[in-house]
Amino acid sequence: MSAVVIVGAQWGDEGKGKIVDIYTEFAEVVVRYAGGPNAGHTLVVGDEKLIVRLLPSGILRRETLCVLGQGMVVDPQVLVGEIDELRRRGHENVEERLLLSERAHLILPYHIELDSLRESSAPQDRAIGTTKKGIGPAYEDKVRRTGIRAGELRDLDRLAQRVAAALEAWAPTMKALGGRVPEVSEIIEPLRPLAARLVPLLGNASVVTEEAIRSGKRVMLEGAQGTLLDVDHGTYPFVTSSSAVAGGAAIGAGIGPNRISTVLGITKAYTTRVGSGPFPTELDDEDGKHLQKVGDEFGSVTRRPRRTGWLDLPALRYAARVNGIDGLALTKLDVLTGLEKVKVCVAYDTPQGRVTDLPIDQLDDERVRPVYEELEGWTENLEGARVLEQLPPAARNYVRFLEEGAGVPVYLVSVGPSRAATIVLHNPFVGRAAAP
Ligand code: IMP
Repeated sequence: MSAVVIVGAQWGDEGKGKIVDIYTEFAEVVVRYAGGPNAGHTLVVGDEKLIVRLLPSGILRRETLCVLGQGMVVDPQVLVGEIDELRRRGHENVEERLLLSERAHLILPYHIELDSLRESSAPQDRAIGTTKKGIGPAYEDKVRRTGIRAGELRDLDRLAQRVAAALEAWAPTMKALGGRVPEVSEIIEPLRPLAARLVPLLGNASVVTEEAIRSGKRVMLEGAQGTLLDVDHGTYPFVTSSSAVAGGAAIGAGIGPNRISTVLGITKAYTTRVGSGPFPTELDDEDGKHLQKVGDEFGSVTRRPRRTGWLDLPALRYAARVNGIDGLALTKLDVLTGLEKVKVCVAYDTPQGRVTDLPIDQLDDERVRPVYEELEGWTENLEGARVLEQLPPAARNYVRFLEEGAGVPVYLVSVGPSRAATIVLHNPFVGRAAAP
């Protein structure tokens, strides 16, 4: 039985797209288990580059079944747009390979409107800096039990009644924020053509995923965002609204936790964050600018510049614990090339003394300060390295330092944007090293 979870170990944008793409070659089924169009995965297969927000990463591979799990929130318009874009590029069998969980929740226009209204009216210190894609309000509807599930697209008359109830519940908030409460028909009419496209894709994602695992197929459970943005385990309240951590994979895919054989965490060689909230190792100097420029650190969905900073080992150990990470994929090591010294946070000074665990609920306290260890940098170009021994000694030392500090082995090191620029040490799908 082999279901491998791929999870971001930081604040998202760890470079999951490339890693997932390398491993999808070995997966027959890819299930996205959380989040919505707030994510942006850049996929590169051959000469083709595509940014997907909802579709699982296996979608560019002709043989892979792609599942949008019930833990997701799905904007019908975005999903149909992505399918059409793939068709336009000549991918013919996209819909045949796509399954939309009938239990996934829908993002409807009022969710997007509410997300924007709330963000723009919040005082600066309280705005979350969301992607304004309607994620929070859609998950709020789910928990409040006024959400609309994808399976309801089968009966738009009944769905209209449920939308009316949701709008009634949201009306006071919308009005208080200066918004206009839409008519039900304004929601339903544009939904008709989208429903016609999506209803044929509906199915029971839990049954399909469980059967795939039981029949010995290799299944990848693909996360979105990252551990520190998880609604339970992240830097609350500056988080997204879903269970991004590995445990969320069982819920979001509809399988038991014992079906998961491996958890692969993805971490950059440094740290980035988009949106508001604490980020203790953040840099606002030349080194920070280097990371942003060389790492091209701009959001793939919103193009917002990402905040940049040093690697945080207590945060990585925290991620290893709350996800049960078996191995790490280390991305963007090449971005550090050219820095004379590279710092790594190894502990925190707090009012209670020095701690090596991440003081996650004290990170906004300015008395809580990262403690750094300084390592030698390197100037050599890493892109050609295919085995660790081909890295310069200082870069190899950095990988070893990270591995020891995180307490989990490194399975893969990415040394450049291209697929080939990768050192694969272990492949959780086949249990041995595989050439990229
Ligand atoms: P939301 O998910 O749009 O509600 O945004 C909540 C927080 O999560 C904000 O700080 C966003 O910037 C952040 N966020 C959401 N999706 C991503 C992502 O894919 N990468 C990085 N940050 C994200």
